[in-house]
Amino acid sequence: MALANINFPSNYKILVTGGAGFIGSNISEFLLKNGNKVTCLDNFATGKRENIQPFLENENYTLIEGDIRNLETCIKACENVDYILHQAALGSVPRSINDPITSNEVNVSGFLNMLVAARDAHVRRFVYAASSSTYGDSISMPKKEEIIGKPLSPYAITKYVNELYAEVFSKTYGLETVGLRYFNVFGRRQDPNGAYAAVIPKFTIQLMNHESPIINGDGSFSRDFTYIDNVIEMNLRALMTDNKEAINTVYNVAYGERTNLKELVTLLKEYLRAYDSKIMEVDAVYGPERKGDVPHSLASIEKAREKLAYNPQYDIKTGLKSAMDWYWHNLN
Ligand SMILES: NC(=O)c1ccc[n+]([C@@H]2O[C@H](COP(=O)([O-])OP(=O)(O)OC[C@H]3O[C@@H](n4cnc5c(N)ncnc54)[C@H](O)[C@@H]3O)[C@@H](O)[C@H]2O)c1
Repeated sequence: MALANINFPSNYKILVTGGAGFIGSNISEFLLKNGNKVTCLDNFATGKRENIQPFLENENYTLIEGDIRNLETCIKACENVDYILHQAALGSVPRSINDPITSNEVNVSGFLNMLVAARDAHVRRFVYAASSSTYGDSISMPKKEEIIGKPLSPYAITKYVNELYAEVFSKTYGLETVGLRYFNVFGRRQDPNGAYAAVIPKFTIQLMNHESPIINGDGSFSRDFTYIDNVIEMNLRALMTDNKEAINTVYNVAYGERTNLKELVTLLKEYLRAYDSKIMEVDAVYGPERKGDVPHSLASIEKAREKLAYNPQYDIKTGLKSAMDWYWHNLN
């Protein structure tokens, strides 16, 4: 991963909650490579053992199999920890529409448990996964951190509540927090299977199997698709910044460009044809729009550039090429 001007964390003990998931396992891999001790707290609700299999032999890696809904587990996981990267949550808007209670228990009560445990363990900083879904029905574009709308799903509510709690913990208890509003992250190890799979891995596997991807709506909905390495970069910057004005706030984590779903399918086919030319003959089909989906999402990344010197290295094309290579060689 090419990163300029970053003060890399090393020799720290870092707790990554949700460390067996897509984003958490990628962050953990980077931290381990840089000589940190990583503790993963995960209950494998959506995370996978194979994501962390290579780390289990590393003496600097500890797995705590447990649930953030249990305060005692969170307290134990925070023992002697320097920093926390909190990724554990139940993702997916449709999942939260089908089961708002469980999403709330994990994403809100679990989050609060982690904040309490982090506060009591006097960790140096608590960096957490927020979400672009917090922009809700706001029509302003590009999305700037200060202007949000009304939430469009239970998931969006949970992620906004995270931000409110983090701010109150910073003000009330002096806990340093940074929220990262991720915009449609994609890349190696993102799960392509299941009812709640994200669009890029789902379409990729369908194309690889010569099945037509189903686009919800007319294909004009657009997203600021963000490659995983840009997300790792922001986590590191949020963790390591010594600029006191850059903490106790939230940031968009995105590339700052948008791609609609029709264009996305064209790009996926373009990059997969290198492995199997027949994929060019597979066409998308169109289905009904999904409840809770926002039509367009595009981030302003100015705040992150200004305060954290964020300088994303991977646009959607570079990211997709690399992700397609991974899917082809690992899931084919
Ligand atoms: N992927 C994206 O595009 C995206 C966008 C916005 C926000 N986010 C947020 O980023 C974070 C990571 O997402 P991801 O894409 O890696 O998803 P993921 O599902 O791959 O990872 C989430 C991890 O949390 C774990 N987890 C769930 N419930 C738990 C519980 N009760 N106790 C302990 N662990 C639990 C899961 O087992 C999984 O390993 C989440 O907070 C998600 O809401 C992701």
